[in-house]
Amino acid sequence: MARIVYGFGSSHGPLLSTPPERWDLRAQDDRKNPKHPFRGGVYTFPELVEIRTGEKDFQKEMSIEVRRDRHDRNQRALDRLAQKLADVDPDIVVVVGDDQHEWFFDDIQPSFTVYCADQVINAAIDPEIMKTKSPGIALAMSASHPPEDQTYPVPRDLALAIIEQAIGDEFDVAISAKQPTDARGVIGVGHAVGFIYRRILKDRPVPVVPILLNTYFPPNLPTPKRCFEFGRSIGRAIAGWNGAFADKRVAICASGGISHFVIDEEFDNRMLSAIKNRDTKTIFTEPLNMFLSGTSETKNWITVAGILAETGLEMNLIDYVPSYRSEGGTGCGMAFASWD
Ligand SMILES: [Fe+2]
Repeated sequence: MARIVYGFGSSHGPLLSTPPERWDLRAQDDRKNPKHPFRGGVYTFPELVEIRTGEKDFQKEMSIEVRRDRHDRNQRALDRLAQKLADVDPDIVVVVGDDQHEWFFDDIQPSFTVYCADQVINAAIDPEIMKTKSPGIALAMSASHPPEDQTYPVPRDLALAIIEQAIGDEFDVAISAKQPTDARGVIGVGHAVGFIYRRILKDRPVPVVPILLNTYFPPNLPTPKRCFEFGRSIGRAIAGWNGAFADKRVAICASGGISHFVIDEEFDNRMLSAIKNRDTKTIFTEPLNMFLSGTSETKNWITVAGILAETGLEMNLIDYVPSYRSEGGTGCGMAFASWD
């Protein structure tokens, strides 16, 4: 039997890989964005500034001193996660992330996908794609992409066991047995997995099973309850896995979140403490319109909470770092946690 020996969650947003002096680049995008979801409403940037007046001193939060402090804390937390994972030295990492129009587009957008080929490529930065990105995103892309294409092993046996268990548990999960291609060739694995390879695994070729959720693009967004239950199914699959590579030590990773691009510290604290305390009532009753835009990646964490629900591992918050970049309270609520 395989054993889940460790879990961790890490934000993966572009600010983590952007010098604090340049966080303004992303704030410029925020000011142009006409639709900011926040606590059930959707606002233009000026409306957001107005409704959040008095909530917090965002000007102070945006000061370079505070930003530098936040940036340092983020880097320390990422370094700590990288070191912990190196110390645990698992045989396999199951990464739960979301696809953001990287492999899946309007032609097909599955709610849950398990990748089940023998290997996966994290592609080098494509200069043509770089040109299509806003400066703030382009600057941060090196955090998810290696200088040259990297190929990593995928334990297909375990991926198939997860799929079989999902189908047995009545999750009609999609599979991807081959990386998609476009005119330029193979499309590299998405940012949610690429960031973990680069920043936490430091490009070590540890076998990884990528599991991709559609958290971002309505209408087929899985609910938090569905994500948690899917996670439990994945957990059962790992615990019962007795294939050619059994006896393996498995780590689980939640990639992304928490609230962004409008930071909502109340939501972040509520979700993080519910996940820590296995408080499914709070998770399941959170209104669905709280999980929009980047904040939807909280569902990656909820899925991982489901995977770890029946283990004895306990969540420890390494740090929560609200990293503000604008007067509207936009940025990313960065969270880093381990389940030890
Ligand atoms: Fe993301």
